[in-house]
Amino acid sequence: MTAIAGTAAPIKTTQLGTTFVARLDGIDARQLRPGDKEAVVAALDRYGVVVMPGQSLDPIEQIYFSENFGPLERSSEGIPSLDQFKRTERLEDPRLSEITNLTEEKHVMATGDARRLYQYANRLWHTDSTFRPIRARYTYLRANQVPSEGGETEFADMVAAYEALPASLKHRLAGLQGVHTLNSAMDMLGATRADSGGFRTSYPDQVRPIVDVHPNTGRRVLCVPSHCSHIEGLPIPEGRSLLFHLRELATQREFVYRHAWTAGDMVIWDNRSTLHRAVYWEDNNAGRQMVRTLTQDVPEAR
Ligand code: OGA
Ligand code: MN
Repeated sequence: MTAIAGTAAPIKTTQLGTTFVARLDGIDARQLRPGDKEAVVAALDRYGVVVMPGQSLDPIEQIYFSENFGPLERSSEGIPSLDQFKRTERLEDPRLSEITNLTEEKHVMATGDARRLYQYANRLWHTDSTFRPIRARYTYLRANQVPSEGGETEFADMVAAYEALPASLKHRLAGLQGVHTLNSAMDMLGATRADSGGFRTSYPDQVRPIVDVHPNTGRRVLCVPSHCSHIEGLPIPEGRSLLFHLRELATQREFVYRHAWTAGDMVIWDNRSTLHRAVYWEDNNAGRQMVRTLTQDVPEAR
């Protein structure tokens, strides 16, 4: 079925956060109409995070939808230890990740299950895949099952956070480059060995500007995720303490939006202009299951 021009329901945009985040109604991710993709990109440019409730699509349909925005990341690439358990997952397609603490039989995975341990890194403020040679541009996360308490996702606005920095600090940051590695987040969690969920990466360190310019909007954005280990050319403790300071400033409540999930929600975020993290829930008792796809930040897809 194709929508007849002029009769399609208009897209309704509702801002949810103080400075960013919008809910988009009127788009069916299974059946994009001409202009829908552009509307999503425009909303992501303006709001950083887009919430699309009531999307009943299966994982393969999620791949089709996400592929409209560019090539998809293969999650286990460059993380050999992740590749091992990927083969035993239900969602075998390398373009899909399952973000869950549930087994195939819908039981909570045992404490110490490596698949669960890896996901504790999601509880740290981060943005996806800055430790890979090609970082993520957009992440698509769709909820199938959510706990009744906790398990929200928080987002922080890196445009507003940068703008609010004191002029002296903006000046200090000009030209500084951050060094990104998955190991930085793993070390923070104490997950330094395979038997403690210590996923290590075979990627070399990735160097990225601390203050970047968003290519679509021209706005300056802070890039200080937990995967940023230190600052090039500064003594490690000096760079790392500056990063802690920046991350703390950038994630003050005024820059944060907390998304409480309903099953069927699909949330899309622009990794270039936001940070995010999963909020605590009773993960030994309550199940949470999400399906994730990511568009790579490759120049030709712009
Ligand atoms: C992710 C992520 C947060 C969450 O999927 O990249 O960080 O709330 N998820 O599950
Ligand atoms: Mn993430």
